[in-house]
Amino acid sequence: MFGLSMVFVILFLVAYFTLDIGDNWDTFAGLGASTAALGVTLGMALLLIGVGIIHWSRKLMSDHEIVEMRHPAASSEEDRATTLAALNAGAEESGIGRRPLVRNSLLSAVGLLGLPAVVLLRDLYPNATAPDASPPELLARTIWTKGMRLVRDAIGTPIRIDEIEVGDLINAAPEALFPTEENGYEELHGAEKEVEKAKGAIIVVRMDPDEIVPVDGREDWSIEGVICYSKICTHVGCPISLYERTTHHVLCPCHQSTFDLADGAKVVFGPAARPLPQLPLAVDEEGYLVAQSDFTEPIGASFWEREKV
Ligand code: FES
Repeated sequence: MFGLSMVFVILFLVAYFTLDIGDNWDTFAGLGASTAALGVTLGMALLLIGVGIIHWSRKLMSDHEIVEMRHPAASSEEDRATTLAALNAGAEESGIGRRPLVRNSLLSAVGLLGLPAVVLLRDLYPNATAPDASPPELLARTIWTKGMRLVRDAIGTPIRIDEIEVGDLINAAPEALFPTEENGYEELHGAEKEVEKAKGAIIVVRMDPDEIVPVDGREDWSIEGVICYSKICTHVGCPISLYERTTHHVLCPCHQSTFDLADGAKVVFGPAARPLPQLPLAVDEEGYLVAQSDFTEPIGASFWEREKV
């Protein structure tokens, strides 16, 4: 089993480097070939080590019952000596010294498990063969485009500006994630859909227009007090929406970063280092809220190459 575990780790590495993560989202139960293969191989590697250890203790170690009496929590010297002796006896019974093949294959299997963790670090670097797939590029653009309607995130209905009251906060999403015959957007699937859903999430709030502190160059990004920001915290990327309507502060539940939505979503408390990106808004001829463009800066958690985007 330990030997098989090592084989699965090797298969994991082979799958990681050979399987395409592109358009094959439906290879197995709605999962892509790469996702399914990585999950199965790493899962099997771990499972086989676990099952192997259980098997070893059941089949190779002696099987006699032990009764242990309750005693005070602090151990006496005598107890410690007894425990140590019991541990030594256990080690002796397990045959760890006498069964080098089993022991060494277990140690090798556990050691080899470190390789997937190291290999996965490669994803942190820009991909030389597909520069558009590097983390900075992936976060720099979202599915939002000029004229795309804002829709309610769970049900996908478009939002009319006159439906929002002062003090409201609406969790919203891009209309492209709810394709219909009328809107003509193409259906996304699998990982691509999930990624765009995560990156495109927004919050829309309405406040008294006089309370909004103007930000240079963004004078026409809000309409009649309706203003829109990314829902993804700039600390490490939790979704936020705990809104206090009197102060216009929105709080991230993960580490309590607090952003002032009336003042360019600046950070007023907590570990986040930059404001929430703002989505420029407009209203279409039917009175529905639409985006003027994509976000103008990367959304989500900060990262070290961010300034290069
Ligand atoms: S993720 Fe929001 S404060 Fe840490």
